[in-house]
Amino acid sequence: YLNYRVPRTRKEIFETLIKGLERLEYRGYDSAGVAVDGNDNKDNERFIKLVKKRGKVKALDEELYKQDGLDLKVDFETHFGIAHTRWATHGVPSVVNSHPQRSGKGNEFVVIHNGIITNYKDLRKFLESKGYEFESETDTETIPKLIKYIYDNRETEDISFSALVERVIQQLEGAFALVFKSSHYLGEAVAARRGSPLLIGVRSKYKLSTEQISVLYRSCNIENVKNICKTRMKRLDGSTYLHAVGDKAVEFFFASDASAIIEHTNRVIFLEDDDIAAVTDGKLSIHRLKRSASDDPSRAIQTLQMELQQIMKGNFSAFMQKEIFEQPESVVNTMRGRVNFENSTVLLGGLKDHLKEIRRCRRLIIIGCGTSYHAAVATRQVLEELTELPVMVELASDFLDRNTPVFRDDVCFFVSQSGETADTLMALRYCKERRALTVGITNTVGSSISRDTDCGVHINAGPEIGVASTKAYTSQFISLVMFGLMMSEDRISLQKRRQEIISGLQSLPEMIKEVLSLDEKIHDLALELYKQRSLLVMGRGYNYATCLEGALKIKEITYMHSEGILAGELKHGPLALIDKQMPVIMVIMKDPCFNKCQNALQQITARQGRPIILCSKEDTESSKYAYKTIELPHTVDCLQGVLSVIPLQLLSFHLAVLRGYDVDFPRNLAKSVTVE
Ligand code: F6R
Repeated sequence: YLNYRVPRTRKEIFETLIKGLERLEYRGYDSAGVAVDGNDNKDNERFIKLVKKRGKVKALDEELYKQDGLDLKVDFETHFGIAHTRWATHGVPSVVNSHPQRSGKGNEFVVIHNGIITNYKDLRKFLESKGYEFESETDTETIPKLIKYIYDNRETEDISFSALVERVIQQLEGAFALVFKSSHYLGEAVAARRGSPLLIGVRSKYKLSTEQISVLYRSCNIENVKNICKTRMKRLDGSTYLHAVGDKAVEFFFASDASAIIEHTNRVIFLEDDDIAAVTDGKLSIHRLKRSASDDPSRAIQTLQMELQQIMKGNFSAFMQKEIFEQPESVVNTMRGRVNFENSTVLLGGLKDHLKEIRRCRRLIIIGCGTSYHAAVATRQVLEELTELPVMVELASDFLDRNTPVFRDDVCFFVSQSGETADTLMALRYCKERRALTVGITNTVGSSISRDTDCGVHINAGPEIGVASTKAYTSQFISLVMFGLMMSEDRISLQKRRQEIISGLQSLPEMIKEVLSLDEKIHDLALELYKQRSLLVMGRGYNYATCLEGALKIKEITYMHSEGILAGELKHGPLALIDKQMPVIMVIMKDPCFNKCQNALQQITARQGRPIILCSKEDTESSKYAYKTIELPHTVDCLQGVLSVIPLQLLSFHLAVLRGYDVDFPRNLAKSVTVE
């Protein structure tokens, strides 16, 4: 956060940083820290004050006000503070492992980092051999030590802060979004990214000097420190710096996610991989190490539509609960302007120019992780039916582990709520290298996946903050179905089916409301189940994905053991788990698998199992054998999964609350998994 010619007190600076962290806390929350300018000490030396705390951001907030020697009322004309909330990858959650990480006396260089540095062991060995002592177990600590090493060994006095950062990132392997602060360059900000998201919010009451910044390139051999210090940047065209016209106040907010800054500004610049952004004297510049033909030579300031209220909890006790209850609206937003119910057409603007190519492809490969993968499993059958193409669904990590053959005439879909999941992103790069057409299905405008794919669909579910994904699942589901509908528009033999599905889509919002009205009943069920250790969820066909997704929700926020079981596999193993005690939820819908599900039901009751059945209101059969039933409105078979997953979302929520867990902050998990 940089504040230029808008005097702010230290208290305001703290508040801005903490508020930003709170908005990001869903992405990591085992420890947090800030770095701000300290008061000059008695020798008039400048130093950076670090305050770090294990636990949630609230604990850090309290800690800040206990610090000696940090006058809260002191005003700054220009100030740059950094803050971070951590999700541990290397090293346990602790004060010393939390960020900012530091180097030098009085914290000469401090750094916050998202991502993983994969060559940190080599770097650490090298730096230790040069006498640098490490205090943490993190990969990140190599970065402040490395920049200090480069600074100490500089060959000219006047090396710029961004030139130092440039040298650092050339040595780093892995993924990073980095922000640096230094006591040698107080009031200057430098940030860089590769593989992890980073954006810059811009706020000014005055007109800005430009709506886009030209990217600068070094015109020298970057291998040589001396050259870096001396050579000048090459300006290509347009404006080089961004500042407010008339040298008036402008503030910059660096963040990994727009939700951290949206209350200050909705005008943002998304940085690209290998961009280095620097603010000096209130002016922002962006440069890159080398120029490649595919580089976009400028970065535009974009206006985000996100509203602050969208990322607030409102009257709900948790974001997850709010997001479950938002589904009648979020599914409408996914379909808005795309499905024409009157003439039964579907148009996905982001795909229309590529439709011919997609229709000609060899196969569709849909790739994702966790819940996003389940959305692909849920829609595979209807996509096969509507596109008449082979459809593979793949977990990104496994897809990469297998070095799956991919060809130029494949179309690869990348389904990701955040658009930043490292495994999915790597799978995207893998498919791009093999020249397949790539399609993003994401919920985050400006995310890496939405930008790096050839084309795509934004699911428009609105910001999802709860770590357990809910409304994104139903919107991903509907987006994939819409894609199938668009592909089959001119298939005469499929018109009746398309009509049926489109009518089903139209009535979904009302039906979702009806399912949500079962909340109390589901709460009562949770009261019966919350002390159990295990919970099996079983089904098949269109609802197999519902079982996988329901079980994932249960395990991630209630910490109960839960398994989604394909009912067809029951007799091949899972049946051994069934007895009087084992709670089993069965999803049995009026669809082509109904009779087969009845067989599974018989097998369970014959072993004295007591199934809780999610079934259709019209089903008089299943309830005869059920210990309990939850009756759902009936819709077209391939859309039923949108409805049947909701009771399981609600059940997991109530179970977690009854078991005393923090629903929005499940242990060990983070919202976007930007590490491999
Ligand atoms: C589960 C959950 C995760 C994510 C997975 C992929 O509730 O949220 O399983 O679905 O980490 O994340 P995205 O969709 O952001 O790629």
